[in-house]
Amino acid sequence: MGSSRQLRKQVIAFAPATISNLGSGFDVIGLALEKSGDYVVAERTEKRGVQLIGVDGDNGVLPRDARKNVATYVASAILKDLKPRFGVAITVHKRMPVGSGLGSSAASAVAAALAVNALLGNPLSKRELLPYAVEGERFVSDAGHPDNVSPSMFGGVIFIRDVKKLDVIQLPYPKKLVWVVVHPHIEIRTAYARKILPNKVPLAKAVLQWGNLGGLIAGFCLGNIHLLARSIEDVIVEPVRARLIPGFKSVKSAAMEARALACSISGSGPSMFALVTNQADAKRVGRAMQKAFRRAGLNSDLIVSRINREGACLVPCVGK
Ligand code: HSE
Repeated sequence: MGSSRQLRKQVIAFAPATISNLGSGFDVIGLALEKSGDYVVAERTEKRGVQLIGVDGDNGVLPRDARKNVATYVASAILKDLKPRFGVAITVHKRMPVGSGLGSSAASAVAAALAVNALLGNPLSKRELLPYAVEGERFVSDAGHPDNVSPSMFGGVIFIRDVKKLDVIQLPYPKKLVWVVVHPHIEIRTAYARKILPNKVPLAKAVLQWGNLGGLIAGFCLGNIHLLARSIEDVIVEPVRARLIPGFKSVKSAAMEARALACSISGSGPSMFALVTNQADAKRVGRAMQKAFRRAGLNSDLIVSRINREGACLVPCVGK
């Protein structure tokens, strides 16, 4: 590693929010969204180790203790391995909802990894930073699922062939896709949403699910929007998690009646996403979904986004 005098004193990294699972791909597929996400500032300090200077944009719900926050957890893991002759102070600016199913902890983990790496002179590639971010996910949700951190890191649509070896594949995708995400104002803890899932899956259901996942991946690769849309069908996880989301059934029906091409739960919820191909459809579908949530007693936020190609970046991000 170069002398610390040549290194930057402060860097800011951005990592985007993500939609994972996409119906049939529990834990193995996800995509990055534009705009929403986390900014992490990393500053070099004389004092060794990692300090957490502050967190904002989270309504005070995230840990302020550096031993419990995912961003500082990831930063500490990187410092422990790379042993620079300085410490790092971290500030997290959250610009996305927490506990929403949009990969909030993943965005913090990825932005922290990228920022600390830049402060150290970029010794690691994004691929080498990925396991640190996955460990961050394990730290906060008891499961090292890579389907939020991977698209947040690399951008685009990412398929993870092997979640242990982190065999991650960036898929091509049709440029017309527009994602409508509605975030109702309740929180679902990922750890709980995972705990209620079955350990065993009947073979007949597994066959339907891997048929759909194959269709989803083929749809992305072939640019066949109707194939990918009809493959956003989850016969294993969605039926169990639906009951955690008030109004789930009517929100999904409202999206489909408003001519969405597909609709499912984003990650572990409570956000729900729908797929459309233009802004006018996005507006109509988003309105219908929000109205259905309101009828179930929930206010919500609406995010309409295309796919973020670049993933995590150092601010100012180039190519945006
Ligand atoms: N694949 C993970 C899950 C994503 O569904 O539990 C968590 O956001």
